[in-house]
Amino acid sequence: MISLHEPTIVGKEKKYLKDCIDSTWVSTSGKYINLFEKKITKYTKSKYAVALNSGTSALQISLKILKVMPGDEVIVPTITFIAPVNAIVYNKAIPVFMDVDDYFNIDVKKTKHFLEKCTFSKKGFTYNKKSKNKISAIIVVHTFGNLADISSLVKICKKKNIKIIEDAAESLGSFYKSTSNKFKHSGTIGSLGCLSFNGNKILTCGGGGMILTNKKSLADKAKYLATQAKDDAINFVHNDIGYNYRMTNIHAAIGVAQLEKINKFLINKQNIKNQYFKKISNISGIFLVKSPKYSKSNNWLNLIRINHKFKKNKKQLIKIFSKNAIQVRPVWHPNHLQKPYKKYETFKIENASKLVHSTLCLPSSSHLKNSEIRKIVSILKK
Ligand SMILES: Cc1ncc(COP(=O)(O)O)c(C=O)c1O
Repeated sequence: MISLHEPTIVGKEKKYLKDCIDSTWVSTSGKYINLFEKKITKYTKSKYAVALNSGTSALQISLKILKVMPGDEVIVPTITFIAPVNAIVYNKAIPVFMDVDDYFNIDVKKTKHFLEKCTFSKKGFTYNKKSKNKISAIIVVHTFGNLADISSLVKICKKKNIKIIEDAAESLGSFYKSTSNKFKHSGTIGSLGCLSFNGNKILTCGGGGMILTNKKSLADKAKYLATQAKDDAINFVHNDIGYNYRMTNIHAAIGVAQLEKINKFLINKQNIKNQYFKKISNISGIFLVKSPKYSKSNNWLNLIRINHKFKKNKKQLIKIFSKNAIQVRPVWHPNHLQKPYKKYETFKIENASKLVHSTLCLPSSSHLKNSEIRKIVSILKK
């Protein structure tokens, strides 16, 4: 079976795990947690990083520490893995679904249009004209490793007092380019960035997440809430309702070993993208989705789009690949059409449905072999 995305475990994972077990530091304290956080801050140039047990809990806590209150609205793209939408509702807030651009990221033009035409300001906050609810945040998801073009959103959100949370679950290793040749890592532009280390990500801990922020007060609050809001660790005094969301030392040990290999993973992934691009570009009716020019993508997943010139549709292609023991996957079902979320407001969603109809994700593990890429492409050619 050629899988869609498997972890590549070729470093010191077993060594660090053994160290963890031998030391008996297996739970939510230990040297690997601090080390992993330190190494991620160094890599991303975020001032602070807080290691949690999943990307989903990172999103949930992020909304909470940015004071997204019950009844507030949060703008979120309809095309994303469902976790950020769930995180909004865990906080008893309300999602407003936005369309996406051709990179499957939030449509910045439409979002700006919505903020300019469909909201009003009162006492320093922004409210939805239709619902009269406060709009307190936007979750920008950097889908498939490609960064959303958020520079203009940052400006308008600052003016309107709306917080930006970057869901960087899929974009560890993706950077914004700037004119001064300085790169900014995904998740370091908004108020907070959230990473995931689930098994299908470019780098895994088995499971895990991380909050990135430049504000110490936010990092401290995140850590406090993730460890049961313990105000006195001896007498067990809790002045808030916390969660058991901290990463374990075992997971962090795997993460540290994985992070040592990130540059190798990124090189492999760029090669895989180049190979797909070269081989697919002469097949009529299919094209490989490119990465945006303003960023350096981690090329987490490669996607093809099919048009009317191609003789098979998406469903037929999935069947053929499956018969050949190759795992391909459609893009997520749009979230505004998911059963729990149908009742919420949407804004001019047009492109999302077109993209979902015509797109397939191809196998992209960082250890994918050239021979496997040839096999995948030969099926498309046939
Ligand atoms: C875009 C996105 N956001 C959030 C998550 C949630 O992360 P986790 O699985 O670590 O909870 C994922 C994937 O797993 C994701 O792809």
